[in-house]
Amino acid sequence: MDEATWTRVDELIAARLLTRDEDFTAALERCKRAGLPEIQVSPAQGKFLQLLVRLLGAKNVLEVGTLGGYSATWMAMALPIDGRLVTLELDPKHAKVARENFAAAGLTETVEVRVGPALESLKELVSELAAPFDLAFVDADKAGYPEYFQLSLKLVRRGGLIVFDNVVREGRVLEQGSADASVRGVQKLYELLEAEPRVSCTALQTVGVKGYDGLALALVVR
Ligand code: SAH
Ligand code: DHB
Ligand code: MG
Repeated sequence: MDEATWTRVDELIAARLLTRDEDFTAALERCKRAGLPEIQVSPAQGKFLQLLVRLLGAKNVLEVGTLGGYSATWMAMALPIDGRLVTLELDPKHAKVARENFAAAGLTETVEVRVGPALESLKELVSELAAPFDLAFVDADKAGYPEYFQLSLKLVRRGGLIVFDNVVREGRVLEQGSADASVRGVQKLYELLEAEPRVSCTALQTVGVKGYDGLALALVVR
């Protein structure tokens, strides 16, 4: 089995299970035209995030790492009319494309894009005593994951969920003494999750159109 098979199975999953869902191809095309890296979640993962929004009855969603707004669109489309999604992005070019996508999807009133280093934006959200979030999706620079976890924990309510993308990276998470700051960031995240009694966690290895990777889930239990 190889990536070609995983990709075809992802296509089967989308063709069978996502046909009644909104088609966000236009959003992907806008990202592509703007030259953004094609590293957004897969359609099946976007739908998974959307199901989490619905399972949690989420009204307030936080995203760390917007890119062109693809994952945010999946999540925001499941929010109630008074729901809000705040998404944090360092690169103004990415934020601009994302705002165009949100406008095209009728989500301008629902989604707020904050441009700047996520670390600063998260600290601002903490100091603003922003309404507690029901769900956080962490998907920006992997070196920052330890700090994004600690700050998200201040922002997500009890019973809320923090999801981390890219916690396997083709098994590179196993590399001891890695020179790669992304790998070290994810390894540190696992240590923090292990030591943190306020969360109950698991991580799932995934294959698909994005190769071999994984998602970690941290439920805030107290
Ligand atoms: N969640 C998106 C993909 C995000 S890709 C989706 O699935 O559609 C990661 C994004 O994080 C990139 O757009 C990158 O510019 C952004 N990023 C990288 N470092 C960051 C930082 N320090 N603060 C905020 N965003 C950052
Ligand atoms: C990269 C980042 C991601 O968030 C992802 O899901 C895949 C790849 C990257 O920076 O290469
Ligand atoms: Mg990712």
